Amino acid sequence: MGTIIAVVSGKGGTGKTSFTASVALSLAAMGHRTLALDCDITLRNLDMALGLSDSSTMDFSDVLSGRCRLSEAVAQHRRYRQLDLLAAPLSGHNDGFDMNRMVSLGREIRENYEYCLVDAPAGLGHGFALATAIADRVVVITTADPTALRDAQRTVSALRHFPNGKLHLVVNRVQLKMLKALRTNIDDAIDAAGAPLLGVVPEDSDVPLAIGRGVPLRDMNYFAQRAYDNIARRITGERVPVMKVYPLMKP
Ligand SMILES: Nc1ncnc2c1ncn2[C@@H]1O[C@H](COP(=O)(O)OP(=O)(O)OP(=O)(O)O)[C@@H](O)[C@H]1O
Ligand SMILES: [Mg+2]
Repeated sequence: MGTIIAVVSGKGGTGKTSFTASVALSLAAMGHRTLALDCDITLRNLDMALGLSDSSTMDFSDVLSGRCRLSEAVAQHRRYRQLDLLAAPLSGHNDGFDMNRMVSLGREIRENYEYCLVDAPAGLGHGFALATAIADRVVVITTADPTALRDAQRTVSALRHFPNGKLHLVVNRVQLKMLKALRTNIDDAIDAAGAPLLGVVPEDSDVPLAIGRGVPLRDMNYFAQRAYDNIARRITGERVPVMKVYPLMKP
């Protein structure tokens, strides 16, 4: 039985899509059969972050409505064959998706994949509800700035029903020059959000560049991707010290 992990945030633009794409590719590169599910209805861009722009002709709404099967709706990654993408619909009402059907889709995903990462839209709306309704675990992505931290705290509060050990925090865009101050902020983030830290991802200009070039980050980068790889290893149960990310940051 596979594990479904929803990737959420309160504030927009904290790095959910970059995280989902990079960690899904890490898991696939490790040999795990993985699904990247885009739940950001109408604004989808997980395909770009995976280097699979416009490769999908069908999306999860086609599966929910019974127009096609899960296996027919997914697009297999051309290079990382263990990874499939299930796209979000480009149109449609956010709240027009049936929660019970989504939960059944979740069951089918668990039967067919070892891991599924769900890229949620920002905030606590219907897309968030869909993504977290099918999830076994949730990762809240935040940056270290105060507004993102406050929104992360609200998000964690909305997810209190998840049992201990199933709710995690990732602090993204950590900068070397702010490291000293940020260590306090990261501790603050864990305290404030009340969720254990799954990992820290450094600020890295290759993250936006990868999308611009239409290639996955892991095909062009070592720094941020190494942090995503560490997180993927932790997801599979390996013990990887969080602080190992710091020496990997670009000078
Ligand atoms: N570690 C990083 N270093 C540098 N830039 C980053 C990093 N992570 C994300 N970014 C950049 O921040 C921007 C937002 O990232 P991304 O699209 O992944 O966020 P998001 O949370 O999915 O946004 P939205 O809420 O709009 O869906 C992008 O331009 C991305 O390239
Ligand atoms: Mg996004």
